[in-house]
Amino acid sequence: MEKIRIKGGRRLFGEVVIGGAKNSAVAIIPATILCSGVCRIENMPRVSDVQVQLQILKEMGAVIRAKDDTTVEIDARPLSNGRTSYDLTRKIRASYYLLGALLGRFGDAEVSLPGGCNFGSVRPIDQHIKGFEALGASVDVRGGYIHASAPEGLIGTSIYLDKVSVGATMNVILAAVLAQGETIIGNPAKEPHIVDLANFLNVMGADVRGAGTDTIRIKGVKSLHGGTYSIIPDQIEAGTYMAAVCGTGGNLLVKNVIPKHLDCITAKLEEMGAEIEELDDAIRIIRRDPIRRTNIRTLPYPGFPTDMQPQLATVLCAADGPSIITEGIWDTRYLYVDELRRMGANIRVDGKVATVDGGTTLSGATVRAVDLRAGAAMVIAGLMANGTTTIEDINYIERGYEDIVGKLRRIGADITIVDEPPVKAEIEA
Ligand code: EPU
Repeated sequence: MEKIRIKGGRRLFGEVVIGGAKNSAVAIIPATILCSGVCRIENMPRVSDVQVQLQILKEMGAVIRAKDDTTVEIDARPLSNGRTSYDLTRKIRASYYLLGALLGRFGDAEVSLPGGCNFGSVRPIDQHIKGFEALGASVDVRGGYIHASAPEGLIGTSIYLDKVSVGATMNVILAAVLAQGETIIGNPAKEPHIVDLANFLNVMGADVRGAGTDTIRIKGVKSLHGGTYSIIPDQIEAGTYMAAVCGTGGNLLVKNVIPKHLDCITAKLEEMGAEIEELDDAIRIIRRDPIRRTNIRTLPYPGFPTDMQPQLATVLCAADGPSIITEGIWDTRYLYVDELRRMGANIRVDGKVATVDGGTTLSGATVRAVDLRAGAAMVIAGLMANGTTTIEDINYIERGYEDIVGKLRRIGADITIVDEPPVKAEIEA
């Protein structure tokens, strides 16, 4: 029953070092299944989704060694088939990458339907399935499992994704790298983690071109080898600290970032009154003037990321006027609004559009992290608020933020983890 407790009202000063990108790591770990050699992966984020993904591979027979805090060696050669454990794979959304990787290696994969953050009733995977089927696999969903099979092997082809999907783009790349012939993906996602996965695979001997553009071309190769690869910095972790400074005021050097990946977040924070200086692999953010209102529409990369929407909506509660937010990726990503209302926020939600009334000083309350980025938004709300905020269900936050409490404490926040035992009724025996 660990909770985060924050006494709000402190500005943030100093330096924070950003970890590796979670959404790269959770795809690159399954990608090692395709490699006939040891993969040494550096800048691995220290977050629980990564631990789950590593444990899944370990239970399948991979040899995994931690070389230091952020470097892991994975040897997936001992894996003997495409079956995965039900309990672990259903814990995280990214377990669906095992499908593409296992299908690519064994021509057969069975993975439980993925879990992850809840953004509404369904998070469809029809585009992943469309991609596997186009490559020649038959796919069957039953009993809580997805089973994909291509006993004769996968054959390269042209696939046009009807929806821009990070997961489907990555999964088709994973399945196609060892397929026979050339695969062309039209309308792919262009996020930095797509390019990161392609770069990892190319270092291991694959031939993936065009990642980050409108067309990805994958020429199948006979095998991949081992090698060393360093994961890119996490753009959303960086953006979250930048949003926190915009909310509280202060002056922070955000280190180990690729400023280009943050362009859209930087532009929005500047509109909101922050001063931002881009350095080679760092960004300085200063906020001294009042927060200005703005409008936000989330879009696939290079548009404004949905994974920063809850954090900026929170900061906009204190802006000098109303802001309109339009969620362009997920059907339901406003579950956190009820929690913010407990802290005094005035936000109206109508379908995919939220209107955030500015001019609110949030006040501390007990709130829940309803999903990963919603949890980050609650942390920012707690830092901005008057009084004490207690955040429950922090396991969501730990899925994607390494040592968030330690990192914030070192830059001046009054934040701790408290361990409260569950309530026990005082009933006489
Ligand atoms: N979609 C379909 N069919 C599909 C796949 C997706 O209709 O087969 C729709 C989704 O319902 C959604 C849109 O396409 O409306 C985009 O979904 P996408 O597939 O891009 O999302 P994802 O791969 O499931 C990843 C990140 C999310 C992030 C989204 C969008 C990982 C593990 N997750 O999810 O990250 O919100 O891309 O950028 O990479 C997070 O880190 O907090 C997080 C939720």
